[in-house]
Amino acid sequence: MSIRHFINLPEIGPETLKGILEHAHALKREKYNPPQILEGLSLVMAFDKRSTRTRLSFEVAMKQLGGHTIVMNMGEMQIAGSETIEDTAKVLSRFVDAVMLRMSSHEMMEELARWSTIPIINGMTDESHPCQIMADLLTIEEKLGAIEGKKIAWFGDYNNVCKTFAQAAPIFGFDLVISTPPDLKPEKTTADVIYQEDAKAAAKDADVLVTDTWVSMGQEGKSIEKFMPYQVNSALMALAKDGAIFMHCMPIHQNEEVTPEVLKTPASVIYDEAENRLHAQKAILAWCLEEAGVRVRKSA
Ligand code: CP
Repeated sequence: MSIRHFINLPEIGPETLKGILEHAHALKREKYNPPQILEGLSLVMAFDKRSTRTRLSFEVAMKQLGGHTIVMNMGEMQIAGSETIEDTAKVLSRFVDAVMLRMSSHEMMEELARWSTIPIINGMTDESHPCQIMADLLTIEEKLGAIEGKKIAWFGDYNNVCKTFAQAAPIFGFDLVISTPPDLKPEKTTADVIYQEDAKAAAKDADVLVTDTWVSMGQEGKSIEKFMPYQVNSALMALAKDGAIFMHCMPIHQNEEVTPEVLKTPASVIYDEAENRLHAQKAILAWCLEEAGVRVRKSA
């Protein structure tokens, strides 16, 4: 039986990902009466970086669905000393049913998954943040209907979240316009993922304007001056489609990547987006653990 890791969106398959999203919508409808589909199962969550939403959403998701969590600081695990990735993966596999990792090194996460006999879930690496993107797509569908054909405009840094949006675009059939300083222009663009240096042109007729911090964790001290033309402000929002929404995975740095005015408008859906981490996480956990023998009842 193959192990269902949730690390790289393109490796999972479009129909599976769409099914996970559909399940997330269903689980959200059962928010106050969550099915006990993960009863008796345990999840280790290990972090080498700060987190609020990822930690909370996985912890609450497991507990609401009947499971348990163990939180570990990677700096306090033996892997931070001399223990090998292989031994860590094999031992974790004997104790719990799945592992969610937030770790800088994407390669190390993939290496851990190679030795693991239980699902590994990517809670963010320097390369990607697939759980965030599933929550974002859930939010867009809730607010604007089907994701297919929507124009999503990304502003600011070309970071792990942006790169994962770019992976999701051909899978879910939306158009992604990436607007960043020219030195951060993506090396590869496609029919679904285009680059637009001019932020105003990128915002024009967009359904969704999205940004993220200009200084990701571990990049402290970086100059932010070149990002100012890519700030999401009222003037930029005014160029988007009527009814367009503003998204940000949080944490926010006000007056840097977004102005407080934008956050106060009904266009800002940041708290729904944050809550949707919970519902997306539930569906991801259910999919990962179904193959391991867990009977996952699809919610009404
Ligand atoms: N968006 C996100 O991943 O939030 P945390 O860093 O708080 O987990």
